[in-house]
Amino acid sequence: MKSTKHVSVMGKEAIQMLQLKKGMTVFDATLGGGGYTREIYKKIMPGGILIACDQDMQAIDRFKKDFSDIAKNIQIVHLNYSHIRKILKDVNVSHVDAIVADLGLSSDQIEETDRGFSFSDNGLLDMRMNQAAQISAGDIVNEYPEEKLAQLIYMYGDEKFSRRIAHAICENRPIEKTDKLTQIITDCIPMNMRKKSRIHPATKTFQAIRIAVNDEFGHLKVFLTEGIDVLQRSGRFSVVSFHSGEDRLVKNIFRENARGCICAPEMPVCRCEHEPQVQLITRKPLKPTDEEIRDNPRSRSARLRVVEKL
Ligand SMILES: C[S@@+](CC[C@H](N)C(=O)[O-])C[C@H]1O[C@@H](n2cnc3c(N)ncnc32)[C@H](O)[C@@H]1O
Repeated sequence: MKSTKHVSVMGKEAIQMLQLKKGMTVFDATLGGGGYTREIYKKIMPGGILIACDQDMQAIDRFKKDFSDIAKNIQIVHLNYSHIRKILKDVNVSHVDAIVADLGLSSDQIEETDRGFSFSDNGLLDMRMNQAAQISAGDIVNEYPEEKLAQLIYMYGDEKFSRRIAHAICENRPIEKTDKLTQIITDCIPMNMRKKSRIHPATKTFQAIRIAVNDEFGHLKVFLTEGIDVLQRSGRFSVVSFHSGEDRLVKNIFRENARGCICAPEMPVCRCEHEPQVQLITRKPLKPTDEEIRDNPRSRSARLRVVEKL
């Protein structure tokens, strides 16, 4: 197995925001190449507890091999971060001082052709972050009814040619490899739009299928809500997201939890007795510096949001 090629995005800012000290207990929801994990380790050890999870077994195996010296002192868990409560219970931790999540894919996943995440390779239609998951991209592409396919491409990809693409996919079944899918999608985008756009014509559809395969929004919702619950008072929660749908979800859940009364505006008096759980530390998301974007163009779309438990 090759060593990680992943370059962390906004790691300095996301970790600085956590205000870590020696001896703290921290949950790193997305181990990936281990860049964040190693920085957190330096800040809280000795004496701290570091729990790091990833749903991708390859990421875990690679980290254990690349960083065996510190891996033995970290609780490394192969599960979806939406199981944060179970993960903490299994390691006898009830609350944590900080949580960090660096969402999406690592470069190691994108560059592995057979995982099917990239439209520039000829890989299998897989796209599962967890290799043990039941549904793959091939199942969605070859079995979903046209209407459902169009809906998910529109909803998760913001793709305005979603209907045309879904129709072409259904017409060209079976589709086994990513290069065939890429070509079908590309042919659906008018030439003048292709020329104008800065992104590859298949980007949005591939993103939408990946989100559906991994139920990314469903798990993220549960994780954000339960994560806020298990944070200690004054504990911080940093999330780095990579596309607008993801960032919108983080923004909305953080804002809902920062609000007091959630009664409908027409209610004359408050009946909900809802108490704010967190305060927003970043009212607007932080973005990568020009220097980081220059050195690592993949960081361009990153947005960091942070809350603190009340
Ligand atoms: C961008 S990478 C993290 C990189 C890491 N922070 C670093 O600096 O090397 C995202 C990682 O999160 C994992 N991941 C994404 N969604 C997840 C989920 N719902 N549960 C657990 N792991 C997840 C992916 O498998 C991937 O390895």
